[in-house]
Amino acid sequence: MKIDVLLGLQWGDEGKGKIVDVLTPDYDVVARFQGGPNAGHTIEFDGKKFVLHTIPSGVFNPGCINLIGNGVIIDPLILRSEINKLNQSGIDVTKKLFISRKAHLILPTHRLMDAAQEASKGASKIGSTLKGIGPTYTDKAARNGIRVGDSCLEDFSVRYKTQRDRHLKLVSDLGFDFSEYKIDGRDFAAYETEWFEALEFIRNLQLVDSEYFINELLSSGKRILAEGAQGTLLDLDFGSYPFVTSSNTTSAGVCSGLGIAPNKIGGVLGIFKAYCTRVGSGPFSTELFDEDGALMRKQGNEFGSTTGRPRRCGWLDLPALKYAVMLNGVTALYMMKADVLDSFDQLKVAVAYRYKNEIITHLPFDACTQELEPVYEELPGWKTSLDKLYQADEMPDALQNFIRFIEDYVKVPVKLVSTGPDRSQLIRL
Ligand code: GDP
Ligand code: IMO
Ligand code: MG
Repeated sequence: MKIDVLLGLQWGDEGKGKIVDVLTPDYDVVARFQGGPNAGHTIEFDGKKFVLHTIPSGVFNPGCINLIGNGVIIDPLILRSEINKLNQSGIDVTKKLFISRKAHLILPTHRLMDAAQEASKGASKIGSTLKGIGPTYTDKAARNGIRVGDSCLEDFSVRYKTQRDRHLKLVSDLGFDFSEYKIDGRDFAAYETEWFEALEFIRNLQLVDSEYFINELLSSGKRILAEGAQGTLLDLDFGSYPFVTSSNTTSAGVCSGLGIAPNKIGGVLGIFKAYCTRVGSGPFSTELFDEDGALMRKQGNEFGSTTGRPRRCGWLDLPALKYAVMLNGVTALYMMKADVLDSFDQLKVAVAYRYKNEIITHLPFDACTQELEPVYEELPGWKTSLDKLYQADEMPDALQNFIRFIEDYVKVPVKLVSTGPDRSQLIRL
């Protein structure tokens, strides 16, 4: 058996939650391998809508085991609140949720550091979700981090205090007055008290040595899907650095974030929107500032699932998509939100960039500081509603043409087209 991977090929929010939920009947286990509550994965069915931040999107399938891997970072308060919300909807996740002892904890002071660092950057801020992601992964790499399993050790409170005091000094060195700052609506002391209560709750969930756990499941023939968070263009190494997140969002992250050997990776399912969105700062060469961009935002309801911020919108960027396909070894493409383009007469797709008086089809190292002007190809729009369209042979010609154009460019087949937020709204090709 091999483990399949589903991940985003753009700047996140491609619709990973929806597709993981759609695919879970084919899997016994869904595992998150990186990121933390910066993620917001939306799942809609039977008129209900759920947004998951830390919990894998397999939880709506009663038979599915859900694993939060060692590469994920956990804020106990956010995780507890997710579990409680699901409980209120009649979904008890505690029996089917397993958490790696090696997953690092986002401490309350990591949240303060994220805010302090962003404030100190001024106009060049990353546009972080302010969930403490950067500071927590920094501490992990600097060997200062505290893991979920460490919270069960005797010296935990000493370790916590050491890090807390060090963080508070760093925050104050940045000139950040946290007495005025609210973390999710609470002042620091109140947040910290609740954080400890939530940690007590999390400690009593099913903690596992997840690398053994997942490899044993794999050896026993269980079908496993790894669920990516963020997107390839936000990858720490390959994204538009420094406007990236702090983890490896690519398929390589599955190996380090779950303890899965590279030769155990099977299908890599890459998902992308039929256009592009980005939330936060950083280069976005096909970004639209006109009524087309506004229409995409309106039709696609492009507002962040985690922060509510409006998402920047623009045309599909094929050189960037091809780059993502290369980095991840994508074996099948899933195209999301095709319905958002229903009313456009003409559709544009970037096929190259103009860069320093040259036409190029790769993403240059200095894409953050140099202008990349897109070279577009225009394709006719389908000008019809894709709502209630479920069969591939009923797809309008212009949509088929659009898909073929993408496949020809990136050399990977599109296997699914999503036509709305609900679980049922899709066309399998
Ligand atoms: P994720 O982070 O990749 O899981 O994506 P998000 O949940 O942050 O954002 C995707 C948004 O698009 C959510 O609001 C989904 O409900 C919605 N969505 C997913 N697929 C489709 C689709 O095919 N069409 C439309 N209109 N909305 C979709
Ligand atoms: P999902 O899993 C979209 C963006 C932030 C910011 C940058 C760094 O829902 O697709 P961070 O908080 O990680 O330090 O922020 O990354 N970002 C996302 N954008 N979807 C996400 O997750 C994101 N997670 C982080 O907006 O630009
Ligand atoms: Mg999201």
